[in-house]
Amino acid sequence: MKLNELTLAVFASGRGSNLQAIINSIEAHELDCRICFVLSNNSDSGALEIAREKNIPAIHLSEKKFFAETFEISLLKVLEDYRPDLIVLAGYMKLIPKVVIEKYRNRILNIHPALLPKFGGKGMYGMTVHKSVFESKEKYSGVSVHLVNENYDEGKILYQEKIDISDCNSPEEIATKVLKVEHTVYPKVLKLICDNKLNLN
Ligand code: GRF
Repeated sequence: MKLNELTLAVFASGRGSNLQAIINSIEAHELDCRICFVLSNNSDSGALEIAREKNIPAIHLSEKKFFAETFEISLLKVLEDYRPDLIVLAGYMKLIPKVVIEKYRNRILNIHPALLPKFGGKGMYGMTVHKSVFESKEKYSGVSVHLVNENYDEGKILYQEKIDISDCNSPEEIATKVLKVEHTVYPKVLKLICDNKLNLN
C-alpha cells in the first residue's frame, strides 16, 4: 500500500458498472486509490460479484436482517475495521444512517444520473429519473456528483457534466447516454480529490 493513496469504500445495490469504471481507472494507473471493501444491501448485486472477482472484500449488509440500531452498529463496525478515507455511493439505494453521515461528514459521495437539484430526491432513482427528464422535454440531462447529507440528493454539488439529449427518443436512450458519461465522471472526480484539486470541505 502506498502512503498517500486514498482508500475507498464503495456502496452499491445493483449491477455495479460505476464500480467497474472506478476499478478500471485504478488498474490503468489513472487513479491513485484503493478500494478497501464493497458493500451492498443486495446479495445478488453485480457489484458484489465484481468485487469478489477482484479479491476486494465484498460485504452484504441488509437492514432487513437487523433492527435499525444493530444495523447501524454493524455498518459502523465495518467502517471501523477498514477505515476508508471516502465512502463512494455508486447506485446505493438506501439512505445512509445519520450516525454514519455524522462520522463521515463531507466524506461520502454520490453520483446521480441527472442535473441536480432538478430530478432528485426520494424515489428519484434508476429509470424514474430518466422518464421524468424525458417527459419534461428537457434538451439536456447530465451527471452530478455531490456530497451526501441527511436528505436524498441534497448535499453540496461537487461536479456536474451536462449532456445534450435532444437526439434521444426514449428514457432508455437517455439512460444509455448518461450512464456512458457517468463511467468517466466518477473516476474524474476521484482523481480531482486525490490530486487535492477538489476540496470536500
Ligand atoms: C447509476 O445510474 C447511478 O447514477 C445511480 O444508480 C445507477 C447505478 O448503476 N445512482 P451501476 O450499478 O453503477 O451500473
